[in-house]
This record gives sequence, structure tokens and C-alpha cells, in this order.
Amino acid sequence: MPQPAWLDDAVFYQIYPQSFCDANGDGIGDIEGIISKLDYIRRTGFNALWLNPCFVSPFKDAGYDVQDYFKVAPRYGTNDDLVRLFDEAHRRNMHVLLDLVPGHTSDRCRWFKMSAKPLRNKYSDRYIWSNSGWSRPDGYNWVVGNADRNGAYMLNFFLSQPALNYGFNNITDADWQISYRDKRVKPTMVAMLKVMRFWLDKGADGFRVDMADSLVKNDPDKSATAWLWRKARRMLDRHYPQAALVSEWCNAPVAINKAGFHCDFLLNHGGKLTDFAFYKRNEQGASCAYFCKTAHVSAQQMLQLYLDELAKTRNNGYICVVSGNHDVERLSHYLDESERKLAFVFLLTLPGAPFVYYGDEIGMRYIAQQSKEGGFHRTGSRTPMQWDDAQPNMGFSTAASGKLYLDVDRQQDAPCVSKQMSNGNSLWNVVRTLAEIRHAQADLHASSEMTVVECTPQGVLCYRRGQHTYVLLNPTDCPQVSTVSVGSKIFELGTASEKDGVTMLAPQTAVIFQK
Ligand code: NOJ
Ligand code: CA
Repeated sequence: MPQPAWLDDAVFYQIYPQSFCDANGDGIGDIEGIISKLDYIRRTGFNALWLNPCFVSPFKDAGYDVQDYFKVAPRYGTNDDLVRLFDEAHRRNMHVLLDLVPGHTSDRCRWFKMSAKPLRNKYSDRYIWSNSGWSRPDGYNWVVGNADRNGAYMLNFFLSQPALNYGFNNITDADWQISYRDKRVKPTMVAMLKVMRFWLDKGADGFRVDMADSLVKNDPDKSATAWLWRKARRMLDRHYPQAALVSEWCNAPVAINKAGFHCDFLLNHGGKLTDFAFYKRNEQGASCAYFCKTAHVSAQQMLQLYLDELAKTRNNGYICVVSGNHDVERLSHYLDESERKLAFVFLLTLPGAPFVYYGDEIGMRYIAQQSKEGGFHRTGSRTPMQWDDAQPNMGFSTAASGKLYLDVDRQQDAPCVSKQMSNGNSLWNVVRTLAEIRHAQADLHASSEMTVVECTPQGVLCYRRGQHTYVLLNPTDCPQVSTVSVGSKIFELGTASEKDGVTMLAPQTAVIFQK
């Protein structure tokens, strides 16, 4: 299947627009602010962006409750500003993904208001309604009493997010469930395709797709949902062959092979690579993640399912490993800086397209706090980017500090871009160097193969990418021995030295070499 060529060398940077850079001093990030930081992003080695939703919304779920898919939220700027961001990004050889939320809208969306009217109209079947206000079949989340239509409507996520109607696969109650092939639900996907075309025509390079697996209900094997996405993929192949679709699905064989996504996110779900690598704790609450230096675990379990999914999706699309996102506690909550440096070696040398969450490249902290815009525990990972140590807001905004969307990290040793850039040993410098190496070595690009060469019970891991490039890791706080001889090094953290026919790895060592 054709792939947008640019994905092969894409290294993504995820921007939560509220918190990246506030250009007009009103306390909240905006598109102009993002444009002003494109050079920083490019210089750090990122050549692609994903922006969380930036459309008109009541922001009860930080913008994942879209009110108008065709209009940028005034707090971020205008549609013209977004087009300028596309242009400025393209001028720098960068690509921009928007966030598409196809599973639900805000209950303030015009489609929903029309759907909630008692008189039948064009939007009556756009959302999932039961056939009477008194009928709220088990197994679903319903809202009743919020509209004059005689029915209850189904939620897809929060109370403010009614589920769009793509129909049902297994029909268990024909009174109100419509088949996904019925012409009454066809306009829903047609509307989403229209949204996609609208932004692609303006210069967007594709979409990260929110809850991509949630469209058709009663669809346990996801075959009907996948069928719908293949329509979207056909539209792209025909009209926008360079546009990319990245799914929030976390099941690459289904998302990529069946639904036709170019990429699928590998999220923090239990049993998946990122869980074993970064987050996993034992029953006593101690970290047993591969990159925790005291854990001393083999990489075998971490890689098992990943390698299997990699093999299954080979030539069809990419698995995207992420440093974190707006839904999870930041990486720094789980791993210290020395551990994170090694974690970035791994992240940036894996196949597929890596995604780095804004601020992770400088080690921003997770700051537990009161919920904002439906963030709940996630709010602590959504705080403003720290650019420098200037007052009042570390370069994020000139607004009075009490007027910020969320406060910056006010601790004495809060990391910031300017300090990290001027320190040769900083995390930022490691990330930048790795991204540069990745761009320069075709072996490290998304499509090149990964072969495990060594995996010891003590935690040593060596894998080859492509024909000639190797990554050798000892994430533990003990010296370790590898039987792999190191060729010509192109990156080294810690030390790897050959002695008596084996390679001695100092604690927390990572080497990239070629032979
Ligand atoms: C997943 C998004 O990442 C999350 O932030 C949002 O709350 C839900 N989907 C609902 O759209
Ligand atoms: Ca602003």
C-alpha cells in the first residue's frame, strides 16, 4: 500500500496548544506562539508536528469536545493563522497533523442541536438515540432529559460528548440500533471526510485520529469500524496521497492492516512495550520498568508483543512509540534524568515514527494539581512550556502569573529550554543529537528492519537496524558484559569498551555503532 514518503524520516513533536507559547499575552498558548517556536522545534530535530484539537469548543475536554470542526478556536487565532502555520512549517520542511475527533462532538455542536429536535430532520440519525426517553438499554452510557426529543442519547466519553452514529455491527435491539451499512448513518462518515478535506485543502498533512476504534458500536472484532476507515484511506490515496492518518487505537495489526491507517500509536496500555519500558511497577509499587536502573529486567518481555506486531504490519504502516502524551503522567514522573536519556536512545532508534510530547525533551515535570478543562489527573502533564528563567512565566507568556491557563513549574530547579541548550550534557542535547543521527542514517528510519542480536537476563539489549546500524543498551546501574563487538561508534552515553573478546558496558550505557 502506498505510504506518504515523508513518514519514513518523520520525528514528531506533540503540541498541546494551550500550553506551548502565548504570543499575545492573554495567558494561553496560541498558533502565533507555535509559529514563533518552529525554529526551536526544527533545531531540536523534530520535523513533524501533531497539534491537539484547536477548534471551536466549550473545552469541557480540552477541545476533544468539538463544536465547529471548520473553525479554529478564537483563543488560538484564526483559520488564516493555522494556514500560516502550515506554510511556515512547510517552508522548514516540516509536516503538521491536526487532531480529528470522529467519535463524538460537543453537545453544543450544531449537528447535535439539530439531532436533539423532536421533529425529524437531516441530523436526526447523526447521533445514537434510543427510541424513547424511558428506554436506556443496559451496557451503554445514556443522557436523558437534556433535550426535547423523546429519546436518550448515547455518550462516547464525557457527559458533554454525545456519540456520533456510525451504526452497529451486531444488532441486538432493532428498535433503535441501525446497521453500519444502512444509508441513514452514511452521512456521518461523509461529514468526517468533508472535515478532513477542508483542512487538507488548506495545507494540513494529515490527522491524528482520536479514539479511532470507537466508531461502530457492538463491533467486537472492529471489522465494521475498519471497513469505515478503509473508505477514508481510499479517499486519501486518491486525492491526498501524501496525507497521513495516525490512529489512537493501540492495536497495530487491526489499525494498520485492517483499517488502513498509516500509523498506529503504541500507548501506555498494560502489556505493551511502553508499559514494560517506562511505567511498569511491581505489587509493592516499585518500578520494574526496563529503563529503571535498579530494576535489572530482561528486555525480552518488553519486546515480545512489539516484535510480533512489527512483523505483522511490516510494509503496511508504522507503529508509533511515544515519550508520553497529554493523557498520561509525564515520563519524568517515572524515570530520572539518567534513565530518560537512555529511554530516548531507545525511542529514537526504534522503527516507526517516534512521537515526543512537548517539554519531555527538557525533562518537564508532572505537577499534580486541580483539574482544568476535564483534565483531572492529566492536568499535571499539561503545564506551560518553560522556555527560559525569565519572570513572570519562564518565557511562556507575558501575562500576569495569576492569569495563566495553568501555572508554570515554579520550583527552583524547574528545567527550561535556555539552560538545557547551553549545557552540553543536558537531556535536550541528547535528544537533539539522537534526532540528528536518526535523520542522517537511513538505517534508523521508520521502515528499516529491527533485529534483536542480544538480549540477556541481566538487561543487556542489542538490536540491529537495517544492515549496518546497531544499538547496544545497558540501562542498569551495574557494569554488564555483552558478547557483541562494537564497530565504529556514532553515539555513546556511558562507556562501552572491548576487553578479552567481550564488550564491557559501564552502568547506564547506550551506544549506537555501525559495522
Ligand atoms: C483521547 C484523547 O487523547 C483524550 O484526551 C480525550 O479526553 C479522549 N480521547 C476523548 O476524546
Ligand atoms: Ca494567547
